[in-house]
Formats: sequence, structure tokens, C-alpha cells
Amino acid sequence: MTTSTAPLPIQACSPAEAAREVAREIAVLIRERRAAGRMAVLCLPTGRTPLGVYDELVRMQRDEALDFANVTTFNLDEFLGLPPEHPQSFRRYMRERFFARIGLEPTHTWIPSGDVAPAQIAAHCAEYEREIADAGGLDYALLGIGRNGHIGFNEPGSARDSRTREVRLHEVTRADAARAFGGLEFVPERAITMGVATILGARRVRVLAFGADKREILRRTSEDTPGPQVPATFLRGHPDVRLLADGAALGR
Ligand code: PGA
Repeated sequence: MTTSTAPLPIQACSPAEAAREVAREIAVLIRERRAAGRMAVLCLPTGRTPLGVYDELVRMQRDEALDFANVTTFNLDEFLGLPPEHPQSFRRYMRERFFARIGLEPTHTWIPSGDVAPAQIAAHCAEYEREIADAGGLDYALLGIGRNGHIGFNEPGSARDSRTREVRLHEVTRADAARAFGGLEFVPERAITMGVATILGARRVRVLAFGADKREILRRTSEDTPGPQVPATFLRGHPDVRLLADGAALGR
């Protein structure tokens, strides 16, 4: 795969349609893998954007007997300095919004640790990469996109070949998180994120973006020369990527 100026394939749809489409693709993957006696390996995001997908997958478990027993998940990122029970930790978000609702085994859910000792962070990140590789790689990466063009916490300046690592959060990312944390001063300054290359290693990548707040960054993601200034531009050229975005985000 090369860094490419190829256009980003776009599907215009409502948030509800996007949630159904992505959940349907994930369900097909899970069932295909189970028929083959294999795990389905998902890369999952937090934030507001994926909530409809999680709700739809919960519904499919209830109404359509979708079985998650053969699913392994790897989350994109986690704030550093937060214990797992912190209300804003992504570990807690995932448990409350998705994992506990579908009864997913904690041993099947990987999230970078927010309270790893500073001296252990590099080893923890290397271990995360090893676990993804040992799982056979990511089958399906679901992503949101930050107003600054981040994917995961790959902030502006992140390299195409970056791997799971500690990062300093960008001011836009921290400002966007400030309300949830009850003030900018409470937002962590550092995080662990899967790298750009880790994400691009997924066999399929789906990006969700809804609302006028995402319009300018989607324009740049589609039009800018791919590079670290807008990490989402690196998605262009992935062999199986699609952006699902609503009219407000697409400016239509
Ligand atoms: P959001 O975050 O879903 O809350 O808009 C997206 C992101 O920062 O990746």
C-alpha cells in the first residue's frame, strides 16, 4: 500500500443508516468467521459517533441471535493517567456502552491501559502490537475522525508508519473533551494510541462522520495532499476503505 492521492470512497447516508450498514457488515464478518471456526477481530472507537453502531449490534444480538462469542476487540486509544473506573476512561465507556450489554468476555477486549506506569508504557505499546498480530491482525476497523483530522489519537504530525505509542494530545482534541471532563484542566495531556500503520493494517476500514462540525476536516481529508498534517488523509489508498457521512458533514 502506498500513500495515495486516490479519492476517499464516500457513502452519503443518515447516522441511522450508517449504523445499520456498519453493524450489518460486522455481523456478516462475525458469522463468516464463525463458520470458518475463526475469531472476528474488530478495531473499535469511542466518542459520540459510534454509539448508533453499538446500539444496533446490541439490537441484533437480541432480535437476530447475533453471537459475539468469536469476537476479539482492540480499541483505538486511551487517555493516560486515568484509572479504568474513571468516568471518562475509554475502558469504562466501552464496558457501559457495549461490552457489558452484549456480555463480551473481558479476555476478548483489549484497550490500552490508562494507568500503566510511565516506565512501562513503551513495553505496553509493543505488547499491544504483538497481541494484534497474534490475533491474526485487524479484520475490520471502525473509526471516527477528529475535527483536527486525527484517527484514534494520531494527532496532526503523526507519521504514516507510526505504531502503537504514547502521544501528546492536540489542543483541539483536549478542547473537544473539556466539557465531558468538566473543564480543560481535567483533560489528560497524554494518551496511548494505535498507530496510523496499525490502523491501515486492518483488512477493512470504515470511517463515520456526522454533523457540520466535521465538514471542514472531511473536505481536507478528501482534498489535501496526504500527509501527517491531516492523519486521516492516510486512509486514502487503503484497498478497502469507505467514509459513511451525513449531509451536514458532507456539506450537501
Ligand atoms: P466524536 O469523536 O465521535 O466524539 O466526534 C471523533 C474522534 O475524535 O475521533
